[in-house]
Amino acid sequence: MPDHSLSPVLQPVQIGALSLRNRIVMAPLTRSRSSDDGVPPAFAADYYAQRADAGLIMSEATNVSPQAVGYALTPGIWNDRQVEAWRPIVKAVHDRGGLIFLQLWHTGRISHPDLQGGNLPVAPSAIRPIGQAFTKDGMKDHVTPRALETDEIPPIVEDYRCAAVNAKAAGFDGVEVHSANNYLLEQFVRDSTNQRTDRYGGSIENRLRFPLEVVDAVIGVWGAGRVGIRLSPATTMPGETPLDSRVMDTFGTYVDALSQRGLLYIHDIEGVTQQTREADGVDFPALRRRFDGAYIANNQYTLDLAETVLEKGDADLFSMGRPFIANPDLVDRLRIGAPLAEAPKQYWYGGGSIGYSDWPTMNDKRG
Ligand SMILES: Cc1cc2nc3c(=O)[nH]c(=O)nc-3n(C[C@H](O)[C@H](O)[C@H](O)COP(=O)(O)O)c2cc1C
Repeated sequence: MPDHSLSPVLQPVQIGALSLRNRIVMAPLTRSRSSDDGVPPAFAADYYAQRADAGLIMSEATNVSPQAVGYALTPGIWNDRQVEAWRPIVKAVHDRGGLIFLQLWHTGRISHPDLQGGNLPVAPSAIRPIGQAFTKDGMKDHVTPRALETDEIPPIVEDYRCAAVNAKAAGFDGVEVHSANNYLLEQFVRDSTNQRTDRYGGSIENRLRFPLEVVDAVIGVWGAGRVGIRLSPATTMPGETPLDSRVMDTFGTYVDALSQRGLLYIHDIEGVTQQTREADGVDFPALRRRFDGAYIANNQYTLDLAETVLEKGDADLFSMGRPFIANPDLVDRLRIGAPLAEAPKQYWYGGGSIGYSDWPTMNDKRG
């Protein structure tokens, strides 16, 4: 088998105050194995610890409040029971020498009344997404959400701040603000989903106001050096959400504002998530050049592609999502060019430890 142990992607690297064992990041992966009230299971400690050889782990997206929930069986970080359940998971990663950030989530219009106690999901504007929500009773058509009143927005910023405080209490190494994949923050950023006429809509500056208030609130808890953000300017799913009509102007202005705040990194989904690296009208290297902190590249990366992009100077870290599902020892496998296992989709969302924390390492297999 080829020896990649000297690959620059697999060498240690310093990112701000963090010493990473390599440039591979475990991308956030929703696995829907939490309880109905958003408490992650004890066996999530095995799952995350098994993957601690990544330079950095992003947790699965984690709801900042009950209103944020948009998928059945996803975890939260708004109450003490959830914090207590996260604590041993984080400790298990630390015990194996790993680092783990918590991804902070609010799904906005992608939620469903079944997940909102019968209430409508909230959004910048009352525009119905195309497609279906994942509820406890299976897939259900999306509904037209309710547009948030102006005075309902500061309390959501406060939810993020409290969630950031709770993430600290649980022992995480930092937090990633989920401003990607057409969830609430990105619904505010894009003019396709934000048609407000108050101070949170209209101009680019206005559309960025709420996401940047969230970022500032989270920085207030953690300091900018422990906060990253996820962006996906070219992604249309879920909800078949159209791109912003001036995507480089909007996201360029966003990235400038994030850079001025000294954020640790931006984590870009290059292209359409899971589908293609083609990105209509989005120049990712140009966005990266506008940002002074680190750049995490994502979407369909292989070690080969990561090496090429690193050589060009177009990214610092590379996150991988699907490859981590069935390869707990992904970094070891990359090092020796070993074949990667593939997880059947039935194991992606829902269920218990099977297909989750029971994937063998290469050594387990040999044994
Ligand atoms: C099962 C699954 C769950 C995902 N959950 C999240 C999530 O919670 N937060 C997020 O930002 N992206 C999520 N994603 C997107 C991945 O982080 C990643 O962007 C995508 O899989 C493309 O990277 P890959 O080609 O390395 O898999 C998920 C993807 C999959 C396949």
